Amino acid sequence: MAITGRTRLAGLVGWPVASSRSPLIHNEWLRRAGIDGAYVPLPVAPGGLRIALDGLRAAGFAGVNVTVPHKEDAFRLCDTLTEAARACGAANTLVFGADGLIHGDSSDGEGFLRSLRAAGIRPDAGPALLLGAGGAARAIAASLLAAGAEVSVANRTRMRAEILRDELRDAGAGPVSVLDWDSRGDALPDHALLVNTTTIGMAGDPASSCALDRAPASLAVADIVYVPRETPLLTQARARALRTVEGLGMLLHQAGVGFQAWFGVRPEVDAALERMVREDLA
Ligand code: ATR
Repeated sequence: MAITGRTRLAGLVGWPVASSRSPLIHNEWLRRAGIDGAYVPLPVAPGGLRIALDGLRAAGFAGVNVTVPHKEDAFRLCDTLTEAARACGAANTLVFGADGLIHGDSSDGEGFLRSLRAAGIRPDAGPALLLGAGGAARAIAASLLAAGAEVSVANRTRMRAEILRDELRDAGAGPVSVLDWDSRGDALPDHALLVNTTTIGMAGDPASSCALDRAPASLAVADIVYVPRETPLLTQARARALRTVEGLGMLLHQAGVGFQAWFGVRPEVDAALERMVREDLA
């Protein structure tokens, strides 16, 4: 669709943004829905977020996604924040309101919950064990707590898991238990869901983030790594006939949160969209 004076604009602010798949995903949704809109990559160097947001808002943008290195700055620059953004201490989905305010949300946790539900897994089915203690772990832990699950976190560097626990408690997200990294495999019988949020298993890394020998048959296993599609953890889980959730779903579903806010339609995450993104990643 041609860009005109009526085209509704959104985009991705980050540094770098050239390799992001977000424009591909959003513009495909716009095309499918026949919406007069466009989603553009917006490279903004570190330190430049405030002036970029002022300019984009003045230019009539509906809102933006914000990625590395600006997510914490975005959190500070927003006028209002959702519970999810507060729990994460970061905002990645900004809406420029008609009221002149910047409304900030964090879509990663919601994206993760949607990807679980799309796989037929209830987030509150039982206690969840998260591996890792970075930003993704924080967002996912907050969303699982909000959905009513008990959450434990194990991280190679235990102190980071303790900091994550304290930050979530201080943000009012809820209580998190910290487990020793070396006890993660033994803790599986007490859990209904295992989520790898570490980088273990990314392309070229043959390691599995957790041995599943002690996994109960009811355990669901999710990995947020999406290249490769099937990580060593998911291979192991499938060999044991456990239910699995691939990482690409979270990326696609979290994109849907912003799309809905800017363009007014909840987009569909289907096999054709996943295939399109996979082919682009290949
Ligand atoms: P995010 O992208 O979610 O913000 P991050 O801050 O880059 O993540 O953190 C990556 C996570 O992967 C961390 O939990 C890291 O563990 P440490 O805190 O101990 O560094 C984890 N991680 C990366 N490689 C790992 C490995 N080989 N073994 C165990 N954990 C690993």
